[in-house]
Amino acid sequence: MKIISDALELKQELRECKGAIGYVATMGALHEGHISLIKAARSANEIVVVSIFVNPTQFLVGEDLDKYPRRDEADKKICELAGVDFLFMPKAEDLYFEDEVKIAAPNVRGYILEGATRPGHFSGVLRVVMKLLNIVNPANAYFGKKDAQQLHLIELMVKHYFMDVNIVAVDTLRDSDGLALSSRNVYLSKEQRQEALKISKSLYMASSMVSRGIVDVKVIQKEMYNILAPLEIGYVAILSRDFKAIEKVELGNTVILVEAVVGTTRLLDNIWL
Ligand code: PAF
Repeated sequence: MKIISDALELKQELRECKGAIGYVATMGALHEGHISLIKAARSANEIVVVSIFVNPTQFLVGEDLDKYPRRDEADKKICELAGVDFLFMPKAEDLYFEDEVKIAAPNVRGYILEGATRPGHFSGVLRVVMKLLNIVNPANAYFGKKDAQQLHLIELMVKHYFMDVNIVAVDTLRDSDGLALSSRNVYLSKEQRQEALKISKSLYMASSMVSRGIVDVKVIQKEMYNILAPLEIGYVAILSRDFKAIEKVELGNTVILVEAVVGTTRLLDNIWL
């Protein structure tokens, strides 16, 4: 595995490689969820590139950029063991320029749900993902369904900017009790973890209601709120897969998203129907 921090050097190396490139963008502190993305890339491409970059432009003022976990040495080992060919670890000054041209998240879909509480976050995500995709130039880039809104906005960017990359959506990994894997789960006490299970339970309940023919969004949301109580709920949203409001669930074109706070930990989960 080659570790590279210079964007132009990586571009040059990759130009000399033969075969399809599969790419996984990360901010490091790698866990099973990231490994499943790397495995998906490994199984379908000749060359696998992973990047680790804690992107400052997607953190708002006052957010925990400085506290974001950095585990470079452990991450390097994980990548090596997972069969990564190139690990790209740039610094902010390697990627960003003074007074640079910026891409911005769409006014509506970039500012609902996660974007409502973190306005500008998705502009930072798209800005860095555009750069990374242009540097790596992969045939396939892998993103987790767990960050459904991020995934959707990246798909939109690729479409709207006529970019030549196939975005592959990878299923969310769950613990055996149903809790979606997240680096934040370590902050949960045993009791809080039990509380957090209400999130996946509410999503399973929604799915079971739909399979029983109950498709009215308001009816499903009400039942989900009942299950989630007394958690502090950020949102319970039932949208079309292009993140637009719907009144009835349409199988094959619906995503149900929950954000809830357990203790002080903000957890996200979703289910695609
Ligand atoms: O999901 C993440 O880890 C980040 O938002 C991403 C896509 C690597 C961009 O910094």
